[in-house]
Parts: sequence; structure tokens; C-alpha cells
Amino acid sequence: MISTINNIRLTQTVKGAGCAAKLAPGDLDRALCGLDLPVDDNLLVGLEQADDAGVYKISDDLALVQTIDFFPPMVDDPYAFGQIAAANALSDIYAMGGIPKTAMNVVAFPAKTMDISILRLIIEGGLNKMREAGVVLVGGHTVEDSELKYGLSVTGFIHPDRILTKRCLLAGDCLVLTKPVGTGIISTAIKAGLAGQAIIDTVTRNMATLNRDAASIMLGFTVHACTDITGFGFLGHLAEMVVYSGCGVRIKAANVPLYPESLEWAAMGLIPAGTYNNRSFRGAFVDFDMNVSQKVQDLLFDPQTSGGLLIAVAAREADMLVAALHANGVESAAIVGEVVAEPAERIIVE
Ligand code: CO
Ligand code: CO
Ligand code: CO
Repeated sequence: MISTINNIRLTQTVKGAGCAAKLAPGDLDRALCGLDLPVDDNLLVGLEQADDAGVYKISDDLALVQTIDFFPPMVDDPYAFGQIAAANALSDIYAMGGIPKTAMNVVAFPAKTMDISILRLIIEGGLNKMREAGVVLVGGHTVEDSELKYGLSVTGFIHPDRILTKRCLLAGDCLVLTKPVGTGIISTAIKAGLAGQAIIDTVTRNMATLNRDAASIMLGFTVHACTDITGFGFLGHLAEMVVYSGCGVRIKAANVPLYPESLEWAAMGLIPAGTYNNRSFRGAFVDFDMNVSQKVQDLLFDPQTSGGLLIAVAAREADMLVAALHANGVESAAIVGEVVAEPAERIIVE
């Protein structure tokens, strides 16, 4: 049975194209709209202005930060898939400025059609990232499902006065992005059998890289807001920041770090369904300059797995932050734009 591990292509077992099979943006809002949600004074960040993670205050100097993320495989190597799913789940804690402490495995496994040794490799990959993050695994839950899915529910600690939300953009801030964009298109190419080993290795390494170092460096600077780039894409997550803060932003498309291969495949039309969903949900907030090509526009809406942090930092410290990130191995970090007061709630891409 072990030989099936070598032959099975995990991405071929995923229904539909692209990476994470998730609800289209907006669908969840419609499901929750008007529901009577419990109120609690200690809930500092909840569903009302959905952020990367929820925050619940325990005392004046301690709050819990909690999040969950799981999805089907976007790479064929089970161990790497475990690493990526764990790094992605941990990322929401880092994006809030928190320190992850405990995690629980969330598993859906097709036990009738897949060898259980594959699940072992996935969980080993997850444990590898939990260990790197200093996180202890406290339990989990597994169900049988026709489609493989893996992820973590993560709990961390944060100081109640030092929570980084999406809503505190300040006019004049610079926006810094810490990882290249294009993993959704590359995952689609992997599923289609078009991606060579070199790009698979590069994108796998980047998706499996924790946002821990980027986050701990960021906390040494005057940072006003932060989020991590995942399923809604660079512009989708940026749109949330713009809407919640009431500010506008100007983005220099040429400065956004991209995988060159993803540009080629975007030009070929290898676009995941999530890109169109993201664009139809948030496209109304975005004004593209005529010089921004269609393939770059598509990439800026490309759904990411375990993407980088998007950081709003005081302009006078932006170069120092990027230099510190580069000096500590966050090589792709770049200043991608600035926050402006006017036009409010608009994203100008030039
Ligand atoms: Co997030
Ligand atoms: Co998340
Ligand atoms: Co249970």
C-alpha cells in the first residue's frame, strides 16, 4: 500500500480548479446577516468587523487571539501540504500582532480511497511548522470525507492594547508586502500538470514559510494596521482595510512582488475561479490606470495560500522596516503603495 504514496497526486483529488474550495466572498456575509450574535464586553475583535482572528480579553494585559483555517491540497507532496496548511493557519495570529501558543488539527480524510500513511505525512508536516512556531498541539478532530482537507485551529496570546487590526490605516502610511503574489495561478498550473519542479519548489518553500519573522520585525516599528494576504487576494484584503478605515490607497503595481511564472500563466488565461469571485466582489473599489495590464490586474486579485503580511507603517520608518525584513531573510518585502485621505475608500492602482 505504501507505493500508492509515491503515485498519488494530491491536487488531482481536489474537486474544481485552483486552490482552496471556499465560499465566494460575500456569501458568508449573506448567511450571517441579521443573525442575533451573542454580545460580550470582553470580545475585542469579533464578527462585526471581521478581522484575521478574533480577540477575547482575559485581563488588562492579556487577551486570547483565535483563528481556524483548513483547505484541500494545493501541492502534491503530503508533508509540504501539511507544512503549508499549518503556516497558513498560524499566519492569522501573526497578522494580529499575536504570539501563537496552542493548536488543534482539523482533518477531513478520504479513508476509503487514500492510504492512511498519507495523513501521517500531512500531520508530520503540520507538526514541523508548529514546532518552529513554538506551538503545542493539544488535540484535534478528524472526519471522513470524500475530499482531503487539513488545517489548524490556533490560539495565541496578545496584549489587549497592542492589537493590529485592518481598520487603523493612517493617511501618509506606507504599505509593505512581505511575500510575492501569484500562488493561486501557480496552484492551478500545478493541478494542470504545467508547472516545472523549480517553480513548484519555490512556491512551496514560500507558502510553507511562517510569517513569524516578518511579524516580530514589524512589531519593532510604528505599525498602524496589518493583515495577511490569503483567499481574497491582494486587492480583496486591501479593500477590507480601505472600507474599515475610511482611507484610500495608491498602489504602484510595478512594486508589488510577483512570481514571474504566474504572469506567463495569467497571460495564457490560467485563472482560478477565485480570481473572478474576488474581482466581482471588490472590483468596484479599484481604479486601474490604463498602463496596468490585464494579467497584472488578474494577479492582484489572485487568491493566495499562506501569503505575506500587508503592513501599514509610518512613512518615515518604511525604508528601515524593509531593510530589517531583507536583513532577516524576508527577501521579497517591498513598499507597494501609500495610504491617502482622498479619495476615501478607493484603491488606485497605477
Ligand atoms: Co488573514
Ligand atoms: Co484565515
Ligand atoms: Co471531536
